Amino acid sequence: MKINEIRKAYQDFLNRKNIKIVPSAPMVVKNDPTLMFTNAGMNQFKDFFLGYSESPDKRIANTQKCLRVSGKHNDLEEVGVDTYHHTMFEMLGNWSFGDYFKEDAINWAWELLTSVYKIDKDRMYVTVFGGDEKDGVPADTESENFWLKHIAADRILKASKKDNFWEMGDTGPCGPCSEIHVDMRDEAERKKTDGKTLVNNDHPQVIEIWNLVFMQFNRKANGELEKLPATHVDTGMGLERLAMCLQGKQSNYDTDMFQFLIRFMEQITGKKYRENETTDIAMRVIVDHIRAISFSIADGQLPSNSGAGYVIRRILRRAVRYGYQALGLKEPFLCDLSVELGKAMGDAFPELKSQGELIQKVIREEEASFFRTLETGIKRINDLISKAKTEGKNELAGAAVFELYDTFGFPFDLTSLIARENKMLLDERGFEAELARQKDRSRAATQVESDDWVILMNDDVQEFIGYDFMHTNLYIVKYRKVKQKNKEFYQLVFNVTPFYAEGGGQVGDQGSISNGEETIEIFDTKKENNLIIHLCEKLPKNLTAVFKAEVKSHQRKLTQANHSATHLLHHALREVLGKHVEQKGSLVNDEYLRFDFSHFSKVTDEELALIEQKVNEKIKAGIHLDEKRTVPISVAQEMGAMALFGEKYGDFVRVIKFGDSVELCGGCHVRSTSEIGMFKLISEGSVAAGIRRIEAITSDKAENYFKERAEQFEKISALLNKPADVALAVEDLIKKKLPFPKRLKKFSAVSWLELKMI
Ligand code: SER
Repeated sequence: MKINEIRKAYQDFLNRKNIKIVPSAPMVVKNDPTLMFTNAGMNQFKDFFLGYSESPDKRIANTQKCLRVSGKHNDLEEVGVDTYHHTMFEMLGNWSFGDYFKEDAINWAWELLTSVYKIDKDRMYVTVFGGDEKDGVPADTESENFWLKHIAADRILKASKKDNFWEMGDTGPCGPCSEIHVDMRDEAERKKTDGKTLVNNDHPQVIEIWNLVFMQFNRKANGELEKLPATHVDTGMGLERLAMCLQGKQSNYDTDMFQFLIRFMEQITGKKYRENETTDIAMRVIVDHIRAISFSIADGQLPSNSGAGYVIRRILRRAVRYGYQALGLKEPFLCDLSVELGKAMGDAFPELKSQGELIQKVIREEEASFFRTLETGIKRINDLISKAKTEGKNELAGAAVFELYDTFGFPFDLTSLIARENKMLLDERGFEAELARQKDRSRAATQVESDDWVILMNDDVQEFIGYDFMHTNLYIVKYRKVKQKNKEFYQLVFNVTPFYAEGGGQVGDQGSISNGEETIEIFDTKKENNLIIHLCEKLPKNLTAVFKAEVKSHQRKLTQANHSATHLLHHALREVLGKHVEQKGSLVNDEYLRFDFSHFSKVTDEELALIEQKVNEKIKAGIHLDEKRTVPISVAQEMGAMALFGEKYGDFVRVIKFGDSVELCGGCHVRSTSEIGMFKLISEGSVAAGIRRIEAITSDKAENYFKERAEQFEKISALLNKPADVALAVEDLIKKKLPFPKRLKKFSAVSWLELKMI
């Protein structure tokens, strides 16, 4: 079976079990501060397990794009060195939210593997949880008994908490699990060593393919387990490993998922795969990493200097480094490999096709800059070496090596290779010490410590009423203390809330809650999965009182104007520049709006003027908001609304329509475009290869701009003693002298002297 057939057979089988197939969530996580990337299929369902919200479907399945490169589940160092770990992989998963449990999950897994995929039963082992005294969780004899119906007792192995108790992170839903392992060694090897002894022992041919987790607990911040309100199933099977097993290969990289990429690497390097361990590892690293990089960019995550973007940058650099060091590649090559990937996987993942050009451009630019880094780094090392030699030293100082690594992005093992070639030692201890200090610094900067929730009242799901109301009476349902960057604050959850939580580019609302005696300021509103969380610096004394909540309405109204203007801008951009323009990010607050989009050249002044004019025409036309709150996603798409890659949509979506502008959007908007008042572009520039950024102002800010400009014209014409049209011509000349965007900021700074010179 080819990869595509394996994926399809999985979905067809589960469909027959009355399980709904849903799309993969984006790989880059946007609304869970505890996760940067989706590291397991269950991430997007965390709230359902915890009972914070209810899934409309009790049983679902999907194939999920996962990335395990940071946090609790981090496989990066294994990737390429072994033959069965990946940064990005596809997880075939099925879930039950309080519906079927151990028996069905086990029966179906067995039926699928043995009857559909026809894996030899004599090559299979299963593990069950052997219990843990400290956590007070007994051995999972229930699962053992269900397995006994299918498989001999000596093939059921008991495993410890380390292997058979699955947890998503340090806190959150967890439970005992039961894994299915397959022994893929040849007959001779199997005779020599009993497969049982190799289970969970890092053997490349005796590997786990499916993990059935039985979610029963929530791990609290203090390490204790508490029972979940209901029991759930969360299973995950690595598609790449399954393919290796079904295609009778010795390694994931020998399956049709990777072979075409390896062939391409052979072509461009002139080296053969499987001839030399060092080049083999390099090729595996590269063909693995190109998937992680391309899919992240397609999901809207560009390489950058911080957060998730930095992780992607590091993966890309790791691939380039292996290409450079082991394969002798001195010029960008990953960008071409991404094209091969798009050709082969573009049907299953349309985002690779539609964003192919962007992915290639972004990768090329990153690679080219890293190759330059390598060049300058090598020069620097050579300087360091000759300096050390003239000083009669035979060691490079740890701090200098760290500076190369940290400030100049030069890989440590390359430094050490060059040093060795020059018969120089490295102060590795000094380097490690600097590295540890830096890690401590960044941990302290990003660490979030959350206490457990303190529940004040039971309320099923918090209702958001902020589209219609900016104030209401409410109760605090629960709260917790959070420590971040040495600052302590509180998070509150209400039974009902008018506060909009940061999302879709729009900032979170600010405001207050008051019970008549005390007023508590809400300084921000955020979302954690589906939960709306209100941030405040202190708790009210009387937590159970009725509070009157007020959103800062002036601020919200300005934000709404900017948000609606963003939609009009998006539409105008597609009209003026073309349909290739796609939103790549946005920020909307009460001050201004920022909009990033794909476009491959600078937007000219004429185009900018036309875009601005089109938006202002729509504002003047006073187009009424046509808002539909719950539209089936297919209907929304028929209406012309574009789904953005990298965003998660449910079956029902909210559609915001202003005339021809139709968008899927959860944000807050004006009732009529006339409320926006006026729209003024203030800058245009590049954020990355193929991505442009526009900033603009609306409302009072835009009106003031136009007013000031009119006054300036008057002054100019009075001073020059010339009519207004001459003043306009003068402004045109200034525009030509000062490139956009600087001219807007600098216009008022142009001196009269300069004007006279013009
Ligand atoms: N969450 C479990 C895992 O990642 C099962 O999908 O292994």
